[in-house]
Amino acid sequence: MEERLQKVLARAGLGSRRGVEELLRRGAVRVNGRVATLGDKADPERDVITVEGEPLPAAASPLYLLLNKPVGYLTTRHDPFGRPTVFDLLPPLPAKVFPVGRLDLDTEGLLLFTNDGALAQRLAHPGGEVEKEYLAWVAGVPTPAALTALRQGVELPEGRTAEARVRLVERQGTAALLRLTLREGRKRQVRRMLAAVGHPVRRLLRVRLGTLELGDLGPGETRGLTAEEVRRLGQPAGKPARGANRERMTRHRSERG
Ligand code: URA
Repeated sequence: MEERLQKVLARAGLGSRRGVEELLRRGAVRVNGRVATLGDKADPERDVITVEGEPLPAAASPLYLLLNKPVGYLTTRHDPFGRPTVFDLLPPLPAKVFPVGRLDLDTEGLLLFTNDGALAQRLAHPGGEVEKEYLAWVAGVPTPAALTALRQGVELPEGRTAEARVRLVERQGTAALLRLTLREGRKRQVRRMLAAVGHPVRRLLRVRLGTLELGDLGPGETRGLTAEEVRRLGQPAGKPARGANRERMTRHRSERG
C-alpha cells in the first residue's frame, strides 16, 4: 500500500517529522533510484527505498521514555557551548530517540522521548495538538479578570493565544499557584501569557501531555511507558481517565543509578 514517505521514514525510526522532512528536502531519499521529494508516496513492500544510499532499515522496535526534566537542561541533542542537555539524563538505549516537543531551559517536568515518528507526528499535529497541562508558580495573585483573560486568549506579538483552561490552585501570600491546560505549543507560551497579564512565572512544571501524566517521577528520573500508556497516547487527544495508572506508573518507575 502506498503511503507518504514521511510516514514510512518516521516508522523506520529515521527521526521526527522535522527530521524526516529534512532528509527529503536534502534529496537524501530515493525511491527505485529516483530522488524523492516532500509529499511523494511509496509502497515499502514493493518499492526500493534508500536513505543516503542505504536501504531503509527494518522498523526499529519502538521505544517510549518519560523524563522528568529538571531546570538547567536544554532540550537539544548537542549544545555548541557544552551545556547539559536532556540527553545527558537518558539511560543507554538500543536506538536513537528524540523528544516530542521541547521544554525551556528553566522549565521542569514531563518530556516524552521516542523513536516512533508517527506517534510524535500525531501528538504535535498542528491544529489538533494534544493538551499540555502545567503548574505555574507566579508572582502576585491574579485577579478574576486576569484569569478570564488567560482563559479567553492573550494578545502576543504573533497573535492571540487560543482558549485555555486556567485555575487558581492556591494563593501563597503575595504569590500564587496556577494550573493551565493549553492545546498550543508556542515558544515560551506559558511564561509569555502570564507575563502579559502582569504575573511573571517563578517556576513552571509540565505535568501532563495528552493522556500521559508525570505522576511521582522525581526530577532527572526516567521510566518506560507501559503498553497501556502507549495505546492510550495513540488515541485521539483527550483527558486522562480518572485515577489512571497511578499504581502501574510507580511499578515501572526506574531510577538512574
Ligand atoms: N511554556 C513555556 O513558557 N515554557 C515551556 O517550556 C513550555 C511551555
